[in-house]
Amino acid sequence: MTVLKVRVAEVVRETAEAHTLVLEPAEEDRDRFAYRPGQFLTVRVPAGDGHVARCYSLCSSPVCDDRLKVTVKRVAGGLGSNWICDNVAEGDVLEVLRPSGTFTPASLDEDLLLLAAGSGITPVMSILKSCLAAGRGSVTLVYANRDERSVIFAGELRALAERHGERLTVVHWLESLQGLPTAAALRALARPYRGREAFVCGPEAFMDLATSVLTGLGMPAGRVHVEKFFSLSGDPFAEPEPDDAADDEAPATVEVEIDGETRTVPWPRSQRLLDVLLRAGVDAPYSCREGSCAACACVLLEGEAEMDANTVLDRRDLDDGLILACQARPLSDRLRVSYDG
Ligand code: FES
Repeated sequence: MTVLKVRVAEVVRETAEAHTLVLEPAEEDRDRFAYRPGQFLTVRVPAGDGHVARCYSLCSSPVCDDRLKVTVKRVAGGLGSNWICDNVAEGDVLEVLRPSGTFTPASLDEDLLLLAAGSGITPVMSILKSCLAAGRGSVTLVYANRDERSVIFAGELRALAERHGERLTVVHWLESLQGLPTAAALRALARPYRGREAFVCGPEAFMDLATSVLTGLGMPAGRVHVEKFFSLSGDPFAEPEPDDAADDEAPATVEVEIDGETRTVPWPRSQRLLDVLLRAGVDAPYSCREGSCAACACVLLEGEAEMDANTVLDRRDLDDGLILACQARPLSDRLRVSYDG
């Protein structure tokens, strides 16, 4: 079973447009909600007679928050965000997929530069809190918003800056006072921190601007992490199709490292790795199942595979051996993959 249930323990109104859901997994599912700072949950949202799936970043920290939290900001015409803000109340039960995503620091001890705009603060907050609580590095956050009232987590950021004054610098950018952030302004703010690892999240135009500013300052592309948003068109909550495809060839074999364990599974040549793993009861992460979110990314340590679609991994990811399990089919007889980083 890949669909998990969470109870809404509390709904917090962060601003007029943003609600935080505090979530409690069912006792038996607790282990499956382990997550890394910056990851997201895929939530099933009713739509007409059916439902759709939407992804929301976790703003809580796995190292200092007992409960999981997602913050959802209304988007004009947004089906999922408006449904959540209008309907979800304490005591409701939501269906979700296990946390996933690759917008997460490899080490909490790095010095970080975080650039966020609007609700892009959500995964950035998780990274920031985790680094301050469990890491040793310094963190600078540049956070852009329309005006003072739209600043999500204003109080929490103030409290963190007071508690971690030596390690945390928060720079607010308010459009109502300063206009939209310009390349020149972001360059001036980021320049002193160009030796750091950077994480960028916000509207697309902001992320494009921030990325070009940071790479223009000489930051290697591999140290500038951007949370890529994607829209889901299929139904990632559907159970994998039953295995009735009769391959002529004998299946390949794949050894999978996941959550500190190793499993060996036959991999029929015509099938995709994620489907094979889910059917075998391996709790592999995923979200879109269509090659556009990287939630299912794993490292191919041995063997060869091809992908049917890939709109999310870039040349560097591929050179690092990453593959999308939801799109990968085997080309060699023995393969070895790892989800454990
Ligand atoms: S689940 Fe989204 S790319 Fe595979």
